[in-house]
Amino acid sequence: MGTQAEGVLNEEKKMKITLEVQRSNPEEGVESTVRSYEVEAEPTDRLLDVLMQVKQFQDGSLAFRKSCAHGVCGSDAMRINGKDRLACKTLVRDVAEEEGATVRVEPLRHFPVVKDLVVDQSRFFEKYRAVKPFLINEEPVEEKERVQSQTERASFDDATNCILCAACYSACPILDDNGDFLGPAALANAFRFLEDSRDTGFDDRLPVLDDPNGVWACENHFECTRACPRGIKITKHINHTKRRIKDSRQQDE
Ligand code: SF4
Ligand code: FES
Repeated sequence: MGTQAEGVLNEEKKMKITLEVQRSNPEEGVESTVRSYEVEAEPTDRLLDVLMQVKQFQDGSLAFRKSCAHGVCGSDAMRINGKDRLACKTLVRDVAEEEGATVRVEPLRHFPVVKDLVVDQSRFFEKYRAVKPFLINEEPVEEKERVQSQTERASFDDATNCILCAACYSACPILDDNGDFLGPAALANAFRFLEDSRDTGFDDRLPVLDDPNGVWACENHFECTRACPRGIKITKHINHTKRRIKDSRQQDE
């Protein structure tokens, strides 16, 4: 238990911030509008704590997604001060350095809004499924399992960390003009399996990857890589897949 002095110290650390939330409810014909909430928060509070505080004590109608609250489930990606981030991994002090700062919260881009910060991710998951994000190998297993060396595993290790939060999809400038682009998350997950030494599904995935809306739509803006909360080198992996497709064409010639 903290002492009274510690309690006073903690109290002093609290800062008042203005949370500006983009709100809408298309189903009920409520158009997009910005609603402001005055909130007291500790610098070490997370934006998710602040949103929960608003929902609990100021406005129960505010809609947003969250589940694990620890950066694992990918539910609470949103735009915070114009950057795509997880609310549960964003500290108040990282986005509101001064007392009285305004923090703007918006839904992810490139998705239809269901309500407030909740978006419809159907198309995102449709594209994810299109790359067949699972191990493909019809060959019989020798002995008990398909053996893989540590080096082989390391070549795609970071891509296994995707939590499908869609922060990269929102950050991608290609999707501003081309909604049919597969998007960074689907391509990062395609890479994850293409690079897996146990996988033989290159030809199965080729039709969606070797397409104007597949890897070739990527223009190396690196916004996806910057946004990814899991540190996945998405752009590098997309370029790797491009090279692999080119190599396979040369082998076929
Ligand atoms: S690649 Fe990164 S930003 Fe994109 S969905 Fe996966 S974890 Fe999220
Ligand atoms: S709530 Fe699960 S990642 Fe933030």
